[in-house]
Order: sequence, then C-alpha cells, then structure tokens
Amino acid sequence: MNLEFLNRTNIDMKTDITVEFVTKDAIKKHEFKSLIKKSGFDGSQESTCLLHEKKVLLCGVEDYDNDNLRPAAAAAVKTLKATKYKSAKVLVDNKENIAAFVEGFVLGSYSFDAYKTKKKDKTLKTLSFVYTQKDFKDAIEVFSKAVTTADATNFTRDLVNTAPDDLYPEIMAKKAKELAKENGLECNVLGKKELKKERCEAMLAVGRASRHDSKLIHLAYKPKNAKKVVTLVGKGLTYDSGGLSLKPATSMVTMKMDKAGACAVLGIMKAVSELKLDVEVHGFIGAVENMIGGDAYKPDDVLVSRKGDTIEVRNTDAEGRLVLADVLDYAQDKTNPDYLFDFATLTGACMVALGQYTTGVMGHSSKLKHDLGKASKKAGELTATLPFNKYLKKQLKSEIADICNISNKPYGGAITAGLFLDNFIKEENKDKWLHFDIAGSAYTESPWDVNVYGGTGAGVRFMTEFLKSVK
Ligand code: BES
Ligand code: ZN
Ligand code: ZN
Repeated sequence: MNLEFLNRTNIDMKTDITVEFVTKDAIKKHEFKSLIKKSGFDGSQESTCLLHEKKVLLCGVEDYDNDNLRPAAAAAVKTLKATKYKSAKVLVDNKENIAAFVEGFVLGSYSFDAYKTKKKDKTLKTLSFVYTQKDFKDAIEVFSKAVTTADATNFTRDLVNTAPDDLYPEIMAKKAKELAKENGLECNVLGKKELKKERCEAMLAVGRASRHDSKLIHLAYKPKNAKKVVTLVGKGLTYDSGGLSLKPATSMVTMKMDKAGACAVLGIMKAVSELKLDVEVHGFIGAVENMIGGDAYKPDDVLVSRKGDTIEVRNTDAEGRLVLADVLDYAQDKTNPDYLFDFATLTGACMVALGQYTTGVMGHSSKLKHDLGKASKKAGELTATLPFNKYLKKQLKSEIADICNISNKPYGGAITAGLFLDNFIKEENKDKWLHFDIAGSAYTESPWDVNVYGGTGAGVRFMTEFLKSVK
C-alpha cells in the first residue's frame, strides 16, 4: 500500500472510496443519516459501515482523541483490505491527529505472509491523506516522520515473526549488518571466541546446548553534534525452550518471540538513523538460543558473570537475565551513556501483574520513569511502572553464590527479574537506567489496538518518541 500526503487543493480528488471517522453525535447530523440509520450502524468505536453507493466508508470513534482514532484507523484499513477498492482517501483536519492516523493505517494493515505459499492479492494500492489546513509544510514533516517510525515498527514485527530455524543468532547478526550497511551504522559482532575472551560466561552458558553459536551484536549511530548518548540493550533469545528446566509444550509455542527485545533495538536503530535524530545511539544485542542437550547448562550450576559476580542457576528458563547480565556489563564498559535502556521479554509474571497489553517499566529514577510515561502516552503504547523494593531484592540471595537467577518466593517475579538486572548496573548508571519487560506487549495471538496476529513491535514507538524529545 502506497501512502501519500496531499494538500487541500486535492479535497475533491477522485478515489474509489473516502474514509470518514464519525462519532455517534456526528452521524445524527450526517448528510447520509437516513441511509446510515437503515444500515444499523451506530458509530460505536471501531465499528465500520460501507456505503458503497456513496463511495464512503464510515468508521465509528468515541471521540477524536488519538487513542481512539489510532485503533479506528486500523479497523478501517482492515475493512478496506477486504474490499476490491484500489484507492482511498482520508481528510485530515488536525495536525495533532496525523501520527495517530498513520500508525493506525500502517500498523493495522500489516500482515506477515512470508510462509504462505499462496499470497493474498493486495488490492488497496494507494491511500491518500488530504490535509485540509494551511500549514502543509509542517504537516507533511509530521506525516513522513510518523511513516518512518511505523515502518520501523513493522520491520521489528517481521523479525519477531520469523521462524526460529530461519532466524538464529548468526542470522540476527546478518540482519544487523544489513541494517548497518543500509543506514550508515557501525556494526561489530562478537562470536564464541570473542565472547570467551570477554568472559561472558553467563551468556555463553545459556547458548551452549544450541547448534547455533551465540552472538553479541553492537550497532552504533553516531551523528555529528550529538546532544546525548543513549545505550540500548535487547534480549535476543531466538528460541527459548526453557533449557533443562523445560517449558511445558503449550508454553513453548510462541517462544520465537523471545527475541523481541533485540528486534525492538534493531527497529529503534533503524528509526533514529532514518529520522536523523541528534542523539548518539548504541544498540547491544545478546543473540542466543536456549536449548537442551548433553552440553546444556544446568540448575545447580554456578556461573561467573562478566562483571565477576557468581550466579547460582536454579532455573534454566530464567535465561534472559543471564544473557542481559553480561550484555549490560559489556555495554556499560563500551559506552558512557546519558541513558541506558534494556528491552526484554523477561517474565510471564509481568503479564500476570499488568495484563498482556502493557510494558512493565522498572528503574530507580522517578523523573526518568515519568518522562518515559509521557513519551509512551504520546506514542500510543501502554506502559506502567513496577516498583522496586529492598525486601524483594533479598529474595535473590544465594546460599552458595553471590546471587540466584530466580527468586525464592513465587510473587513479584517481574520485579525480582528487574532487580537481578539491577545487580549488573554500575553505580554511576543507576539513575540513567530503565528496564522494559515486554513479555506481554511484544506478541499477540489476537488483534488489539493497531496490532494484528504476531509481533507488535512493542518499544519501537515509545523509545523513538522518547529519543525525539532528548535535549
Ligand atoms: N521468555 C520467558 C518469559 C516469557 C514468558 C515471555 C511468557 C513471554 C511470554 C523467560 O525466559 C522465562 O521463561 N521466564 C520465566 C522465569 C521463571 C523461571 C522465574 C517465567 O516467566 O516463567
Ligand atoms: Zn526462559
Ligand atoms: Zn526467555
């Protein structure tokens, strides 16, 4: 689908259909109100009504708030895709709504058909936004930035959705190198030998039973005159079987998505470099496959992390934090960030705490958590903070090593995982760091908001929005 942004001289342009967003109030005064009444359409949020003879697709919204327009646009484009129409237009009256429309249309029309032998015909060719106000120059900039971010989100989704036997650590590194080449980023990949030299024993233990060697990937976007340095770290478990603490069969399905943190980092690197933001951004990814076998790491093993702290393994399914412990330590040695963020599908407990739609945000700085919350609200992603406390930290105590990789109590699992990571954050970075648990928000098997089946691209929009605001 081709998206274009036109000025108001195009208001009367001919397209196969016009998409109109209407509230319940608006349909009472609508020029086709009797026809609408006959159809039974009541304008409720995200319901649609196709008035074929009038060449209009109506889509209900509760009000014109972006949080309602975004999913309504997604519903509209899904309806359009089920028709034979080739061209559509939408009139946009308010600059504040442009990004929400773009997100709704671009993210809502996403589909992943790489593994379908019979591809569906894509009939809808062009969607035209016609901007009815005067400040076209500003508006088209907002439009193109929103398209860049939405495309980066779909790039992340494609990676998350790719099957684990097609996207293992080596391929993740290849994808990173391709992105680096296309977008002028620096890229460095550490293989098994280099990881050994770096003493990343926790990370290496997790990947040991896999036939695919682990990779630590470092991408860097370094614009001239960068205002700040931001370091991103992503959990890239290209598959999480649970290891010897094997997952039950039904929980293992979808675990290709355990690389979503890494894929979000790649998507953010793509977005910031295409938006040419004045921020130096580093992306570090721990790409590892957690498998079983004679060479697998075991519950009862004690691992020496890169930092030097020893970790008692009590559950090999709590593997993401082991990988992140080493990658966070490496990232903090290689960069001197103003902000340090990690993205990880870390715990099922985060979904228990917040539901599957919300990213869990953890960290020490109230200001940073607040600023991030503002960015995510603007970007249309759900985030909520989960508070650390010293009592939960004690639950990670080990009798034989410095720390345990799981808590000794069954409650607060998302927070104890965050506190485990906190152990590997250097003192000078404590207030610069936030941990994002995207276990629930990164993947869905039923559509919600602008998301369709599969990877959602969680993290890409809120982090890009945050980085746009960095001064
Ligand atoms: N990758 C999982 C977390 C996860 C679960 C992500 C469901 C998305 C959906 C992680 O590696 C894991 O298995 N965590 C364990 C931790 C436990 C052993 C302390 C969990 O959440 O059960
Ligand atoms: Zn796991
Ligand atoms: Zn995992």
